[in-house]
Amino acid sequence: MSRTIALAGKGGTGKTTTAALLIRHLIKTGRTPILAVDADPNANLNELLGVDVDVTLGEIKNELRTAVPDSMARGDFIEMRLNEAVIETDDFDLIVMGQPEGPGCYCAAHAFLSQALEKLMKNYAYVVVDNEAGMEHLSRLNMRNIDHLLVVSDASSRGVMTAGRIAELIKPLQLEVGTVWLLVNRAPQEIPQTLDDYVQKICDEKDMKFLGYLKESQEVFEAEIARRPLLELVDNTEIVKEASQLFEKILKGA
Ligand SMILES: Nc1ncnc2c1ncn2[C@@H]1O[C@H](COP(=O)(O)OP(=O)(O)OP(=O)(O)O)[C@@H](O)[C@H]1O
Ligand SMILES: [Mg+2]
Repeated sequence: MSRTIALAGKGGTGKTTTAALLIRHLIKTGRTPILAVDADPNANLNELLGVDVDVTLGEIKNELRTAVPDSMARGDFIEMRLNEAVIETDDFDLIVMGQPEGPGCYCAAHAFLSQALEKLMKNYAYVVVDNEAGMEHLSRLNMRNIDHLLVVSDASSRGVMTAGRIAELIKPLQLEVGTVWLLVNRAPQEIPQTLDDYVQKICDEKDMKFLGYLKESQEVFEAEIARRPLLELVDNTEIVKEASQLFEKILKGA
């Protein structure tokens, strides 16, 4: 069984950064094989992981409107194309969902692809799903079973409140989530007691477990400016050490 860890949170809070740091941690601790899923239509996880993307699942879906050969069973063809869309590296594999279909969705292809993706995910010990802001697409993706959902917030009361609202969407969307975690990102060196109290209050109210704080990081900032992958951060970088400690809480089932 693979463990699925998905990221959620409002725009720009650090979902993709956290996903990349998590993948780095899984690699470093030998927790493989890993499938990274970029489910954000404006895909950029690949950049933080330092890989190029040739084809997205969205493109395959479009192609399936016309290009399914008569001679080949539709399901087999779709599975073959899906496997071609998996980008393999030494340390992890990546699949990019790309743009969702516009009006006139080719639903048969969608259903086949969801099935094929589900099957593919079973080949991995860990599946890390980076998402766009919001939650609706998680159900659209048919990714209903998530072991750990990490809701990322900025270090503000309003941000934490929004994270709480996001956690509340799990039920109406009928997502099956094992544990919902709150991660407060870009935190200052000194955490104000008021923020800490509020975080605890919202976690209690919304049934979230508090994962911890990730501090504002000069190294992440510099890597971003230079467009350097976060996988290249060295082990003793402060944010890598912080993040690794937090991720162990999830991975060890604490
Ligand atoms: N701990 C941190 N320290 C410094 N900069 C950070 C940190 N976390 C994220 N950032 C920066 O904040 C910006 C937004 O981060 P990121 O792209 O990970 O957010 P996101 O939630 O994935 O955004 P989107 O909703 O657009 O997908 C990026 O420029 C990233 O480098
Ligand atoms: Mg992102």
